[in-house]
Amino acid sequence: MSDALRRVTPVIRLAPAKLNLTLAVVGRREDGFHALHSVMVLLELADRLSLAPAFAPRDRLHVTGAPVPDLGPLDRNLVVRAIGVARAACRARGIDAPLPALAARLEKRIPVAAGLAGGSSDAAAALDGALEAWGVVDALAPADRATAAASLGSDVPFFLAGGWAVVEGRGELVTPLPAPRGPTPAVLLVTPRLAVSTASVFAAHASGARPTPGSALASSRHLAGELAAGMSAAKLAERAGILAVANDLALATSAVVPALVPFRRALGRLVGRPVGQSGSGPTLWVLYPSLVAAEEAATRVRDALVAGDLVAPGAQPPFVAATRIIVAGPGDSAGPGRPTETPAQGGA
Ligand code: C5P
Repeated sequence: MSDALRRVTPVIRLAPAKLNLTLAVVGRREDGFHALHSVMVLLELADRLSLAPAFAPRDRLHVTGAPVPDLGPLDRNLVVRAIGVARAACRARGIDAPLPALAARLEKRIPVAAGLAGGSSDAAAALDGALEAWGVVDALAPADRATAAASLGSDVPFFLAGGWAVVEGRGELVTPLPAPRGPTPAVLLVTPRLAVSTASVFAAHASGARPTPGSALASSRHLAGELAAGMSAAKLAERAGILAVANDLALATSAVVPALVPFRRALGRLVGRPVGQSGSGPTLWVLYPSLVAAEEAATRVRDALVAGDLVAPGAQPPFVAATRIIVAGPGDSAGPGRPTETPAQGGA
């Protein structure tokens, strides 16, 4: 048995999507990034990452699943970068055990460049999973891990923390929140097939496509306060109308993709509920009290798309899925960033 084979434990991780229930842009930072205040949750919709020995000098990545657009050169992919960052952080902490090259297999289920942070979640799973595969989970202190995560992208630290959280700063300040009591809220996701770059949306926001500041921040702080005090899932559902408009990036996304505006309106008319936008979009969300109700709505949306009663921007029909918000947070049995495997949620 080779050294590499002995020292790599195969690891399988789910990398869940995130949803922004609120997203306030608080200001521009000196480093050019924006300071945020956002209540973020994890979804059962997840990519699946496996790590195994590469039996080669370099880390490798194989991607399957749809939609898989051009993921760019291998060494720029976030999964491969995350494994490299994990290795470098271990070395910096004086770990001299062999940290062999890893073969990563990524099954994409989360739409790419969609405001669901699938790539960032993949990176967090790879960072954490690589440490486990090498048998060095205790090599990095939580602060080292958080620094490594932040170096990969603004959304990555949230995934290491896991669960319900309020996210501030550029994304690196993650404060866990208790999940609401009662039945797990479900979500209908509708993602037009348009890759929207986060950088282009923030650039549009910076050049004036933004609402009067304050309203989204007030809603975001209020929700974080209510959750911290112990909120019921039913109360959260009552807040849907307020949360749906509490995204300071929505105007900027509409400036980048004007066709999203009539589509969002038409979707709202069809489902008869408030429609929000996750992150920099273009994913639109609708809250439901149960997965069954969200699945019924997904069917209605798919039928309307087929019938031509709902027309979505993008060359292909949008991704339509019913999923649930993950309740488990830090300290729960699934563990931070380690949700147990659930069946894939259907996409259109
Ligand atoms: O950190 P990440 O690579 O996800 O960010 C992508 C781009 O989005 C950044 O280059 C920046 O232009 C913008 N951004 C920002 N403020 C944030 C997060 C992202 O301006 N808090």
